[in-house]
Formats: sequence, C-alpha cells, structure tokens
Amino acid sequence: MDAIPVMLELASVKKDEVVFDLGSGDGRIPIVAARDFHALARGVEIRKRLVEQSRALAKDLELSRRVKIISENFKKVDLRPADVLALYLSSYTLNLLAPKFIEQLRPGVRIVNFDFPIEGWKAKREIEFKPKATRSICMS
Ligand SMILES: C[S@@+](CC[C@H](N)C(=O)[O-])C[C@H]1O[C@@H](n2cnc3c(N)ncnc32)[C@H](O)[C@@H]1O
Repeated sequence: MDAIPVMLELASVKKDEVVFDLGSGDGRIPIVAARDFHALARGVEIRKRLVEQSRALAKDLELSRRVKIISENFKKVDLRPADVLALYLSSYTLNLLAPKFIEQLRPGVRIVNFDFPIEGWKAKREIEFKPKATRSICMS
C-alpha cells in the first residue's frame, strides 16, 4: 500500500488520466489512483473472486464511476486508451507483455513498475522504496 502513491507520483498521474493496472488483484492500485489522484482507473483481473472483491470495494468507497475492473485476461485487453500503466508483475510476465506495449501504447505513455524490470528496457527513473508496514486497502 505504501508503494502505490509513490508509484503514481513517479508516473505523474493527473486528474482524468487513464491508469491501467494489469493484474489488479484486490484493486488497490486502481482505487488509490482514482481516490487520491482522481484518475480514471482500469484494473484488469483474471480471477473472478478478486474482480468481485475489488468492484465491491470501489462501490463501498463510492468510486465506481472512476474505477472499472475488467474481468479478462490482460493479454486480450486494448491498451490504447492508457495514459499510464502502473504494474506489479513478474519480469517474466512483463517480458511477455512488452511487444503488446510497443504495439498498442501511444508515445508518451508512462509505465511504472513495482519491483521488477522489463528485460532490455532502461528506466528513465528508478527509486528505492522501503515499506513502513503492511496495510490494508480498507484503511483511509
Ligand atoms: C502480483 S499480483 C498484483 C496485484 C495488484 N496489482 C497489486 O499491486 O497488489 C498479480 C495479479 O495478476 C493477476 N493475473 C495473472 N495473470 C493474469 C492475466 N493473464 N490476466 C489478468 N490478470 C492476471 C493475478 O490473478 C494477480 O491478482
């Protein structure tokens, strides 16, 4: 949780920008992007339970208009609307997705990765991050 605002600041997320999280899990990245950065957040998640959980959380937080969770394999999702990708995926998966990024992302789209690099891609900026504690998304 502590890393998410740092990631979104690093990507300079602005109001109404479209932020994708591929493999959005419990929805924490899309929710923080919408709640704290006023982005239009798009999570893509393959596990139905996590899709339902994250949609329910967005609804509870009255963020359903800004947070859309797409129940789909991220390989099939059109990334052309994206302004920012905020990702927490393994290098293996990122490397598989890299050709899709090159094909679909417009020039100027920012990609921010937590923890794992994309092989052969050089980051414009890298920062070291030390978590304060494990926190749940439900806390404000
Ligand atoms: C490391 S977790 C990251 C979760 C979340 N983004 C976060 O930062 O807490 C990766 C997520 O990707 C999802 N996932 C794996 N393969 C996927 C695929 N092909 N399409 C959509 N989601 C996928 C998993 O179910 C899991 O929730």
